[in-house]
Amino acid sequence: MASVTSLSDTVQQHLASALSAALPEAAGADPLLRRSDRADFQANGILALAKKAKANPRELATQVVSRVVTGDVIEDVEVSGPGFLNITIADRAITENLAARYADESGRLGVPFAEHPGTTVIDYAQPNVAKEMHVGHLRSAVIGDSVVQLLEFTGENVVRRHHIGDWGTQFGMLIQYLDEHPHELDHKAGAVSGEEAMSNLNRLYKAARKLFDSDEEFKTRARRRVVDLQAGEPKTLAMWQKFVDESKIYFYSVFEKLDMEIRDPDIVGESGYNDMLAETCRLLEESGVAVRSEGALCVFFDDIKGPDGNPVPLIVQKSDGGYGYAATDLSAIRDRVFNLKANTLLYVVDARQALHFRMVFETARRAGWLNEDVTAVQLAFGTVLGKDGKPFKTREGETVRLEDLLDEAVERATAVVREKAEKVGLSEQEITENGRYVGIGAVKYADLSTSAVRDYKFDLDQMVSLNGDTSVYLQYAYARIQSILRKAGEARPAAHPELGLAPAERALGLHLDQFAETVLDVAAGYEPHKLAAYLYQLATLLTAFYDQCPVLKADTPEQVENRLFLVDLTARTLHRGMALLGIRTPEKL
Ligand code: ARG
Repeated sequence: MASVTSLSDTVQQHLASALSAALPEAAGADPLLRRSDRADFQANGILALAKKAKANPRELATQVVSRVVTGDVIEDVEVSGPGFLNITIADRAITENLAARYADESGRLGVPFAEHPGTTVIDYAQPNVAKEMHVGHLRSAVIGDSVVQLLEFTGENVVRRHHIGDWGTQFGMLIQYLDEHPHELDHKAGAVSGEEAMSNLNRLYKAARKLFDSDEEFKTRARRRVVDLQAGEPKTLAMWQKFVDESKIYFYSVFEKLDMEIRDPDIVGESGYNDMLAETCRLLEESGVAVRSEGALCVFFDDIKGPDGNPVPLIVQKSDGGYGYAATDLSAIRDRVFNLKANTLLYVVDARQALHFRMVFETARRAGWLNEDVTAVQLAFGTVLGKDGKPFKTREGETVRLEDLLDEAVERATAVVREKAEKVGLSEQEITENGRYVGIGAVKYADLSTSAVRDYKFDLDQMVSLNGDTSVYLQYAYARIQSILRKAGEARPAAHPELGLAPAERALGLHLDQFAETVLDVAAGYEPHKLAAYLYQLATLLTAFYDQCPVLKADTPEQVENRLFLVDLTARTLHRGMALLGIRTPEKL
């Protein structure tokens, strides 16, 4: 049996049965158990239950206490205040529970799988072809990747979709230009770097734009190209493919920098739904979900109106017959529901697209594609701000190039790593590698440690700081444990349930026990920031533990082993938790 019942679950069960014995009508009620400063746990649910049953809360609490089975797990339970229960766990139970987690050979630390796993299609990391990636794309990638790891860890079947912007009228202009300047995307022999690919695309884009704006005849030719592209004219398609391929070289280099795995078959851009667009429109029109209005195919909503009070429709097909962003997203829903058999559709997309998704989801609901069994959620994220609190821009007012930003983070982090390198005994190669893990970790952690929907400030000084709620603080906590384990020599980590625990050991142990619940909660609610908060708290408790409890110099050999076991389990929990955020934990730092 790999999965371990947490102490809080065990206590919860004990309390629930004592409660229903004391008050039969409260059977199945939640005693509302929480970790507490006053005792190990506090249950606050009696108050409301007593009120409902018109009973005296303190009396009911006293009756519950008399029925709680104390012994193996619960050492003590007492009534406090108006009817709270304070619960103390036996030291032995804490150590035994942690030992069971430690012994889990699957590496899951005793974390059970979710009770009802399903299939989630997650739409994240969706940059646009022939365009530079910006901080918004960073957020979608970082949050999305963490949610993928979390969901997979709970046993969910996850299908990744990178809905890249690879279709639309702008390609007419680009393709026409390339047709007239055929060598613009040629490469010199040898591999092309991502940077080179992007600068090729940028140069071509600027030149094409300039011509488009100044030359009416080119404009006409470019517009004709759009028609050719939509009709799937082979030569036009082949040139379009060149843009996609060149962009992918760039995307992959950025994702590589981000230390993130993106797989080619999961890149299904807007163009991938082309064949479905006409049918999507037909289905919507035939079912009456969409109606023709001034030639365009529209869906109307009672509660969505513009500033002038007139309804704002979702336009599925324009009056000239063209399809837009909405038609593609509606087709993607059909694909994900009927072909990929999703139970949940998740979209990690900027909050500024919330109205779009509200309208798209509601349309799909009316069409019957979404229902109680298949739900869609936008995991909306806020804006990345500069230190000045305004949307993050360069001093010249341009959007910040993602690559520059990542390079700078790595550079700063490498300097931080180098400072301690000699003491720790790092080779030049290890400095480089750790600099990368620390720098990229810092960027990811800063993003993931605030609730997604909130804006956050991009502040590299703060991100690579060794003190405070940063990834490098957590990485140091991990590396310090590894260093202790290396120094332990003959002594091996081993649990000794017979030993009494110091307060700092209990606090650490009880927090370790909550890892499972935290992960399942965080995955179910798509809230990586709560996992970050858990890990930060874990590192803080570890620091307090070091202050109060010597490890290698503990009083007895058994205590040394038991403390080694405690810190090793902490390290494994940090490692696993950070991996679920997409962040590495170097062994030496
Ligand atoms: N490519 C879009 C952008 O850069 C994001 C795509 C979001 N996903 C979707 N299914 N619409 O804003």
